[in-house]
Amino acid sequence: MVTEKLPGTPQGTARAGAILRAGGVAAIPTETVYGLAANALDPEAVRKIFAAKGRPADNPLIVHIASLDQWPPLVREIPEAARKLAEAFWPGPLTIILEKSDRIPMETSGGLDTVGVRCPAHPLARAVIQAAGVPLAAPSANLSGRPSPTTFAHAWEDLEGRVDAVLDGGDCGVGVESTVVSLTGERARVLRPGGVTVDSIRGVLGPVELDPAVTAMLAPGQKAASPGMKYKHYAPKAELAVLDGSPEAFARFVNAQEQGTAALCFSETEPLLARPALCLGSRYDGAEQARRLFEALHRLDLLGVKRAYAQMPNRRGVGLAVYNRLLRAAAFRVEPLPGPRVVGLVGPSGAGKSTVAQGLAPMGFSLVDCDRLTRSPQVYNPDCLRALGRAFGEDLVSGGVLDRRGLAERAFRDQASRKLLGEITFPHIERAVRREIAGCRGTVLLDAPTLFESGLDSLCGRILTVTAPEKVRLERVMARDGLTKAQALERFQAQYPAEFYEARGDFVLENTGDISRLLEEAARELKGG
Ligand code: TXA
Ligand code: MG
Repeated sequence: MVTEKLPGTPQGTARAGAILRAGGVAAIPTETVYGLAANALDPEAVRKIFAAKGRPADNPLIVHIASLDQWPPLVREIPEAARKLAEAFWPGPLTIILEKSDRIPMETSGGLDTVGVRCPAHPLARAVIQAAGVPLAAPSANLSGRPSPTTFAHAWEDLEGRVDAVLDGGDCGVGVESTVVSLTGERARVLRPGGVTVDSIRGVLGPVELDPAVTAMLAPGQKAASPGMKYKHYAPKAELAVLDGSPEAFARFVNAQEQGTAALCFSETEPLLARPALCLGSRYDGAEQARRLFEALHRLDLLGVKRAYAQMPNRRGVGLAVYNRLLRAAAFRVEPLPGPRVVGLVGPSGAGKSTVAQGLAPMGFSLVDCDRLTRSPQVYNPDCLRALGRAFGEDLVSGGVLDRRGLAERAFRDQASRKLLGEITFPHIERAVRREIAGCRGTVLLDAPTLFESGLDSLCGRILTVTAPEKVRLERVMARDGLTKAQALERFQAQYPAEFYEARGDFVLENTGDISRLLEEAARELKGG
């Protein structure tokens, strides 16, 4: 079969629409990944999708619509919860599973009496659905067992000669497939995490279950709620494992492996690596990791290595989708890295980090407190004092005694001075922190107000963020330090905003009211993995 290469223009989408209306199959871009589309209501057309992909017939297809009025004919009824989700997240990367109507052929639903429907946000996908005039069944546009295509080149590579056309929409913005949520049971249940986060669904619906198959291998004989979960997903040619531990421990481990080993890493870790590395973006940017993951897996195969190791992603937000796809690519191999388990403790002023640290300590954590360390002569040793004197004035260190108050005044007056203070003190703080950690047992809580600026986060396998509403934090800081509201606000202005810390936490603890239950939960999570 000759495959038409269609441009992402009105002519291209019109042509794709015409092909699909006539019962053909065409790969089209969506905001998640490329999809392989056919008329969802035409069993003959749908069979061509399964044939082109080599997909098992019992794996149901998602049906794509361009407007809400296309939805009611496809399902038995649309419950209130479904309407709310559609209103909140459509058009966008969310698939909603409901009981199907008789209009949906068994070929499309893989023999199930339910159907997943999604209204994509990508303008080209929407234009093609409109041009076709029918809802479009579309699984990801990869050959079965290959990574989902997030670029035109990958869709073309897999499907050229097997489908009628591939429409060029450039790179996909989300990069992982849609979140699949089933509303057919008692309670909403996420079967596959994706571009829409589980928390944001909870924000709309209240309690939502997470299907166990999202993070664990199905036991033999166990029935998959989502048939796709039981099939082997993309397995790279290299044997892949996810390693759980700090960036530094990851680099140490990977660098000690033989040649022929590669890493799937975050950008902060890349400079530490002496082996070929494919970068997924920042450790703290789940959306970017999602966008780059499948492309990185493609490139991994091109490297031709025998073994590869991936860093454990933050599993909050869209990170859960990254973790879920990595787990499948790694056949669920997750291994802890050797070395101390260090949890970085961060948060904005007044959130109550120390309260949390004190609360967690008796639950089996060792505490390393940078504020305490910087009051010890270990950090402000003669070397450090000399450098501080040169930078901020010899009068601050006369007689070998540091005038802390004077230093604070000069070092915190502007951005450049603050940076200079960091450059001088961080290496000394780091040495002291490493020494302390080496003497600790079990999981270590590292309370470091400048964890990210100092680079000490590379020692941390997890980040625990403590936060509280701004109003609460203001009151605490005013009371604690005897500041006016204006002074407290000024201090907040000079720091990272609360969202900065919240986005970086593997675990976020809102420190208001009685937090003993939250602390126990945090302790369990942080120690358990
Ligand atoms: O983002 C996406 O969802 C992309 C783009 C093209 O829209 N599509 C996609 O389709 O990822 P596919 O077929 O590769 O993955 C669909 C997943 C499969 O795991 C399938 O088993 C599950 O959703 N699924 C579909 N319909 C279902 C149903 N009625 N009940 C349970 N699971 C269903
Ligand atoms: Mg797929």
